[in-house]
Amino acid sequence: MTRVFSGVKPTGHLTLGNYLGAMRRWAAVDQHRSDALFCVVDLHALTVDHDPARVRRLSRQAASLLLAAGLDPELCTVFVQSHVDEHARLSYVLECVATDGEMRRMIQYKEKAARERERGGSVRLSLLTYPVLMAADILAYGTDEVPVGHDQTQHVELARDLAVRFNQRYGHTFVVPRATSPAVAARVMNLLEPTSKMGKSDDVGPGIVYLLDEPDVVRKKVMRAVTDSGREVVYDREERPGLANLLEILAACAGGDPAELAGKYDSYGALKKDTAEAVVEVLRPVQRRHQELCADPGYVEGVLREGAEKARGMARPTVDAAYRAIGLLPPGTATP
Ligand code: TYM
Repeated sequence: MTRVFSGVKPTGHLTLGNYLGAMRRWAAVDQHRSDALFCVVDLHALTVDHDPARVRRLSRQAASLLLAAGLDPELCTVFVQSHVDEHARLSYVLECVATDGEMRRMIQYKEKAARERERGGSVRLSLLTYPVLMAADILAYGTDEVPVGHDQTQHVELARDLAVRFNQRYGHTFVVPRATSPAVAARVMNLLEPTSKMGKSDDVGPGIVYLLDEPDVVRKKVMRAVTDSGREVVYDREERPGLANLLEILAACAGGDPAELAGKYDSYGALKKDTAEAVVEVLRPVQRRHQELCADPGYVEGVLREGAEKARGMARPTVDAAYRAIGLLPPGTATP
């Protein structure tokens, strides 16, 4: 059976981008057709300036939202990264296979490091090595497929490269994974800055639809979305990024093809109105279920406890094999 692994990072409130680009497919498709693991990757949230209490709160919220989005613990494994030591254990070994140069080429590192420096802050070493930890997340489980939005494909490529390099040097140990992305909405853009990704860590609220935004807040945000100069509604990602973003969101939420949908509208206002309503309808059941789960924190805790136990059992043999292959002495075998 195909092994699937993916995760979300609790650095901010989860967004419509997270949902349409990743989570929705995990629930609707991946958990049904594969042996799937979904993870709140909290160690990754420590790579930038963070508040410990907030990370804890967001981790709990992200786990509830994964379940609210439809992940079913009977069908897949849901857990928190820091509950399973194998991730950090494998990450170090993979750091011994990765190079400084390839880390510095990662687009997200370049962007985030530049932003940190602009703010006058220092760049944590873990921000540079982050993609290796992500590779460890993936490779520890013998993952075949990694369902992600487009912004993560370079990181998954790195995981592939490290797997191939490790296998060549030290013998076959890792499955070589591949990224999969949805046909539409693989890169949902900020509503006010449609050339930038809708990212949860940016915290520029008005251009970002959060999964827990009230319907009226969603409507307001979508109605205020930046559209492009020009009058007719056409789907053109390069020339009309604001419009294209709305059409993709509408297509992802209500069904259909963005280019065909464009032909149905002769005003931006009508397009925005339908898009806003489509988003509200998509978020409604997720929000309802999230509210129920908030009233039952013991349930979520239990799911995470069992998930971590299962995940540990799955990762351990592969990580042990990697330790042996790379030359580390297995415990209890130190006889001369
Ligand atoms: P994160 O937390 O930024 O995002 C979680 C998932 O949501 C997708 N996504 C988007 N898709 C479309 N449009 C957007 N605007 C948008 N914003 C986010 C992301 O592509 C991702 O699939 N490094 C990862 C977390 C991670 C991970 C892993 C993922 C750590 N280890 C192992 C897969 C496998 C991240 O920061 O995702």
